Amino acid sequence: MNIKTIDINKFKRIVFFTGAGMSAESGVPTYRGEGGVWHEYNWREYACQEAWETDPEKVFDFHDLRREEALKCFPHKGHEVITAIQEVHANVLVVTQNIDGMHQRAGSNNVIELHGSIWRVRCDREGWVKDDLNHGPFEKRKCDCGACLRPDIIWFSDMLDPNTVQQADAAVSQCDLFISIGTSGVVWPAAGYPQLAKSTGALCIELNPQPSEQSLIYDRVYKGKAGELLPQLFNM
Ligand code: OAD
Repeated sequence: MNIKTIDINKFKRIVFFTGAGMSAESGVPTYRGEGGVWHEYNWREYACQEAWETDPEKVFDFHDLRREEALKCFPHKGHEVITAIQEVHANVLVVTQNIDGMHQRAGSNNVIELHGSIWRVRCDREGWVKDDLNHGPFEKRKCDCGACLRPDIIWFSDMLDPNTVQQADAAVSQCDLFISIGTSGVVWPAAGYPQLAKSTGALCIELNPQPSEQSLIYDRVYKGKAGELLPQLFNM
């Protein structure tokens, strides 16, 4: 494929907007498409507030499995390219829909997690959020106050965290280079970010082996895998 390489020095603010396809070559399954998590599991039973209120143990078991799966996987060359760019450019943010922590494991530090993280829990009764970095299942399912803990994840029908949204909105609307990687673009409000970046004048590039719901918005669409296209795009 003929890829026009990007000179990062020509851009002041860069946003990498990532979805499950970013982690696919690491071995983390995507949600939709072949082998997708939502084909094997009905999200109504595992990934919404109602499911957790009905059967928290079942929901925890599902997310323990996600943690164990993620631990068997490792960041790939594409993650490394993003981290390397963050190391040499002052203003590079990752806005991710992924909850697997793979960007951070690759050494990225400026990561906005739109949909939360499988590596955090919260107690809605006491109103706290904490890391749970246990190398395996969640360390605790119950708070000392007696309430059931909850993975700190944005499930279906949940509102996104307003502070997180504010940070992501600011980053996307102020960037001059927006690179979307591995998202189907069907889950809102995240799916609105390509249009927001475009409307504020950013060069918008999509990397995905398949067309997404938002493909028409982008200035450039490169068909392929994240781990192969990112090194080519940045000549690294
Ligand atoms: P999807 O599973 O909907 O889409 C994954 C996208 O990745 C598809 O467009 C694939 O074509 C693309 N893809 C697959 N392999 C790839 C590769 N090697 N390189 C690049 N792209 C590849 O995942 P998301 O768009 O992330 O919510 O889904 C959005 C949200 O829906 C997720 O955050 C999740 C889910 O419900 C939560 O986890 C809370």
